[in-house]
Amino acid sequence: MLTQWKTNMRNSRRKAGSDGMTKAQKTRRTTVGAIDSVVLDFTAGDDLQLDRMLVSADCIGTAAHVTMLSRIPVRPRIFSAAECRAVIRELGAILRAAQAGQFTISLDDQDVHLAIERVLTAKLGELGKKVHTGRSRNDQVAVDLRLYAREQLIGLIGEALELAAVMTRLGRANVGVPMVGRTHMQPAMPSSVALWATAHAESLLDDVTLLRAAYAINDQCPLGAAASYGVPLPLDRALTARLLGFARPVHNVLYANNARGKIEALILSTCSQVMLSLSRLAQDLMLFTMPEFGYFSLPAEFGTGSSIMPQKNNPDVVELVRARVSRVVACELAVVDICKSLPSGYNRDLQDTKGPFLEGLATTRACLRAMALMMANTRVNREALARGFSAGVFATDKALELVGRGMPFRDAYQYVKDHLAELDTMDPAESIRRKTHLGATAGLDFAAYEARVGAERRWRKARWDGHCRAVSRLLGISYKG
Ligand code: ARG
Repeated sequence: MLTQWKTNMRNSRRKAGSDGMTKAQKTRRTTVGAIDSVVLDFTAGDDLQLDRMLVSADCIGTAAHVTMLSRIPVRPRIFSAAECRAVIRELGAILRAAQAGQFTISLDDQDVHLAIERVLTAKLGELGKKVHTGRSRNDQVAVDLRLYAREQLIGLIGEALELAAVMTRLGRANVGVPMVGRTHMQPAMPSSVALWATAHAESLLDDVTLLRAAYAINDQCPLGAAASYGVPLPLDRALTARLLGFARPVHNVLYANNARGKIEALILSTCSQVMLSLSRLAQDLMLFTMPEFGYFSLPAEFGTGSSIMPQKNNPDVVELVRARVSRVVACELAVVDICKSLPSGYNRDLQDTKGPFLEGLATTRACLRAMALMMANTRVNREALARGFSAGVFATDKALELVGRGMPFRDAYQYVKDHLAELDTMDPAESIRRKTHLGATAGLDFAAYEARVGAERRWRKARWDGHCRAVSRLLGISYKG
């Protein structure tokens, strides 16, 4: 959204004279016809920058499409096997150039799709002009985004698992360390650092389940849908899907294009869930690192100082994470809002879902990385945690002690309530040892958390290896993402 604002500002400066009036503009020749340059600038929008993120995906998708075209029974053949290899070699070169930051998309290209076609045509002549046979930029951008999303989801899952593992380790290392449990932010009952830490781990593990659901829905290939209605060529869509390592093609060609935006919104909604997990963790840390609490200390190098107050070391990372929760939710809402009024078939509005999609993914990943690093270096202050206990925190335990001696709970509750002033502090360590039931302070199954992290990591590695294998085979290179 910020990038959109910047582009708008730049464009309005570029196009308007000092009097603010738009000057007469020239028409630009593009691959798809002559376009007024103001219109070209306006419609290309942020694509010239954003599509740089999609160059690899576009090369991979094009390689699969061309391979499929070389194998289908059309006479004369669209591509011979040798011609297909020549196109793929060139696509490999473009991919490498893009990875080295040396591939540019010009305004006359409009987007990554026509930029790559331009380069292929410049290098290969007729062969370059054939690559767009039986496809449209609509299914092309849809497959690019799904390939991009696949890599991002695998990355995100890895980062969420890393933080879940860090929180589980923190829990294990502090299994017997008491911490006041709060409700309404007020002291409530004896709890532990382990309960607190693994609550965050479990939230992230549930987010991983959501990310995997998003992965499964994303794992269908839209290529071959063309403009939205298929083409009169015997396209082998199952082959294209297989070459790209998708589980299957999206069946309906109209839905293949209608699903654009829906997939992005779905993925961003799982990002919002991840960010909600991080938001709670960030908020807890802000509170519990205040000197008045002092339960935890963040690594000094994770804070920033003040330009005027020499003593300051502020928890900027967690504050920015809190702000970025709002930004990711805003990205999700931007995509949902753009899609909510769209009719069937491709609509150019969809282009504007790209910015928030890329931003939401990148922001979520950056926040996960920063939080994992910070939590791995956070110190637990046992004395400050112990100081947090007041007698009232043990009131419920006391009432339940009376229940143990045969008193009905409501009478025990009333008795303790009437004698709050006489309540003794109990030993918090003993109190947390007594809660032995499933999931309570003495009933936490660390091994189960570790097993879940391990299983998800194996799933993730298999997906990443499969993805790299499919791309490497397709392009005849060693692809490592
Ligand atoms: N840049 C466009 C997008 O992101 C590519 C598709 C353009 N398709 C079209 N029919 N104009 O949606």
